[in-house]
Amino acid sequence: MVQVRNWAGPIRITLILLGFRHSVYSVGTRHHFSCPLAWCISATKASETAGDSAHSHCTSISSLSTMPSVAHVKARCPQYPGSETRRFPVPDDKLKWETKWADYKPVNYTAPSVLKKPSWADPDIGSFSPHFNSLDGSVDRRSHLGTYGVDQGKPLNPCGRTGLNGRGLLGRWGPNLAADPIVTRWKRDSAGQRVLNARSELPVLQFISIKRKDCGEWAIPGGMVDPGEVVSLTLQREFSEEALNSLKASPKEKEKLQERITRLFKSPGLQVYKGYVDDPRNTDNSWMETVAVNFHDETGDSVSELPLQAGDDAGHVCWIDIDSAVSLYASHSQFLKTTTKERHAHW
Ligand SMILES: *[C@@H]1O[C@H](CO)[C@@H](O)[C@H](O)[C@H]1NC(C)=O
Repeated sequence: MVQVRNWAGPIRITLILLGFRHSVYSVGTRHHFSCPLAWCISATKASETAGDSAHSHCTSISSLSTMPSVAHVKARCPQYPGSETRRFPVPDDKLKWETKWADYKPVNYTAPSVLKKPSWADPDIGSFSPHFNSLDGSVDRRSHLGTYGVDQGKPLNPCGRTGLNGRGLLGRWGPNLAADPIVTRWKRDSAGQRVLNARSELPVLQFISIKRKDCGEWAIPGGMVDPGEVVSLTLQREFSEEALNSLKASPKEKEKLQERITRLFKSPGLQVYKGYVDDPRNTDNSWMETVAVNFHDETGDSVSELPLQAGDDAGHVCWIDIDSAVSLYASHSQFLKTTTKERHAHW
């Protein structure tokens, strides 16, 4: 079990992984994330039972009015990613849906790749009527932030206006749920001793990182929660796919590695974030949410031995030293920072 100092009352979410009980521990309320609404996540009392979808939700977003004006900066980036589409500019004081704004004329954009109706995307509203704020068939349309508004049949981004309606590059109307596994080990010297950072004198953590194909940036090997899938399984599946598939190993070696991965993901994970993601793909009607969980190989005899390539440009998966200077995709730096704080490691 992971020792975590200063818990504001540990919140225990019991998840089921491949038939085994496995726990995720949530950290306290003192963390600050890019979306200021994130505080509500740790006020959540979440308990899950076998067979349930592993999404827990906030009881409420009790006070949208306390939302500072810095909410979702990336979600208002002028040019929508992968397109020529420019968002209608939204000033900080017009973010909230409650603020009347007669002149608000968001651009309507849904990417052609989404309109082609791939299996991971919803149809257009009108041709179907999703059940928002609920488990809709196998698709979970509940938000980690609580109940979101629905206007004229369309869900409203809980962090407010983005200057663009439709779904953009996202498949689901409403929350698009992801899971980010942060797999860590201690950095060790040739004698097996933990390496301390000279400045902070704290031990250095390393995490498994992948190079994203779309932008070439290093990132946590996360992915989208499939319909009907529990988050704990998404975490393991994404990690296994990303980390193992790129490895040059024999099927037998891979089988052994898969066993180790399965064992690590059965260990208690430390939930470092759950909530909204300030993502450039977000729109007024579709947005990213995630659960980030740290799985740590404390003793170094589990996935620490994964034969990953060194952190050069050739490698697509590698161990990277965690440090505040590490530049990562989206809010991933924040997840790492929380991880180091909870593990008493260098940042
Ligand atoms: C928005 O665009 C989609 C296609 O991209 C279209 O089907 C829909 O009718 C448009 N909605 C409005 C309100 O114009």
